[in-house]
Amino acid sequence: MEILQRPDEMQQWVRGQRRSGACIGLVPTMGFFHDGHLSLMRLAAQHADTVVVSLFVNPTQFAPNEDLDRYPRDFERDMLMLRREQVAAVFAPTPELMYPPGFQTEVRVQHLTKYLCGRTRPHHFAGVATVVTKLFNIVQPDVAVFGEKDYQQLAIIRRFVTDLNLPIRIIGGPIVREDDGLAMSSRNANLDRSHRASALSLSTGIGLARDLYCQGERNAMAIATAVQRHILSFPHTSIDYVSLIDSRNLDLVEQVDVHTMLALAVHIDGKVRLIDNGLLVPHSESRISAV
Ligand code: PAJ
Repeated sequence: MEILQRPDEMQQWVRGQRRSGACIGLVPTMGFFHDGHLSLMRLAAQHADTVVVSLFVNPTQFAPNEDLDRYPRDFERDMLMLRREQVAAVFAPTPELMYPPGFQTEVRVQHLTKYLCGRTRPHHFAGVATVVTKLFNIVQPDVAVFGEKDYQQLAIIRRFVTDLNLPIRIIGGPIVREDDGLAMSSRNANLDRSHRASALSLSTGIGLARDLYCQGERNAMAIATAVQRHILSFPHTSIDYVSLIDSRNLDLVEQVDVHTMLALAVHIDGKVRLIDNGLLVPHSESRISAV
């Protein structure tokens, strides 16, 4: 497995792969791998001959008051995990290599970034869209794989790939969960035992919304209120948002149906911000199309 740090080295390496006719798949990550990340690498291997993983904790998608300094990192452990996967190369640049002095360009998606996570993190998605565009230009993949755990991020990436005519197929991978239902996240490492119990309120909140839907409830406000109450009944929780959205375009809905998704963002003890989502009808084929 190649480990490459410099953008020009990465570009050169990938050029060599292309010359031999390989279809390139990219999995962008911020490292501290868990089975959710690994599932995306395996999905990429199904769609590409050569899988490249990028590992870069991107400072521009964190606000000054957020957890950039506390974001968990363990490069050696990550490399051990990657060596067991079908990963041909890792691109692991430094912030200085990605943002050299004089850097001043941004990719910004207008509408989709304004609500859900974008409401309390107004600069976050410009940071994501810019770094992902850079990664696309450095690795020049044919396909790129992202998790549905970050559903709004996936929608935004699909949007700018379409808008900017990038010749890259975007594939979404399902959320991987712990046995008790907690969505896997690198940030779970920052939860202690009592906080972890409260973190379960997100996935059990999705379960509650599904139960209410099954019982015939169709009013979005009634479902959101019940889920909010449920989450706040756990210690240390504060809510960023509990939103019922159309999974095809992320618009808020008043009446729920088979396309409706519950999207959640919750702070645990004011320190760890967790997100999760789920369709009210889990096996409905409803997914983002064009947004
Ligand atoms: P990171 O949080 O490391 O996530 C990397 C990829 O793993 C994302 O596509 C994310 O949606 C996916 N992922 C995270 N948890 C998952 C889970 N439990 N199941 C399935 N997939 C999961 O998302 C980012 O990094 C960054 O914003 C990035 C796109 C790399 C840009 O910096």
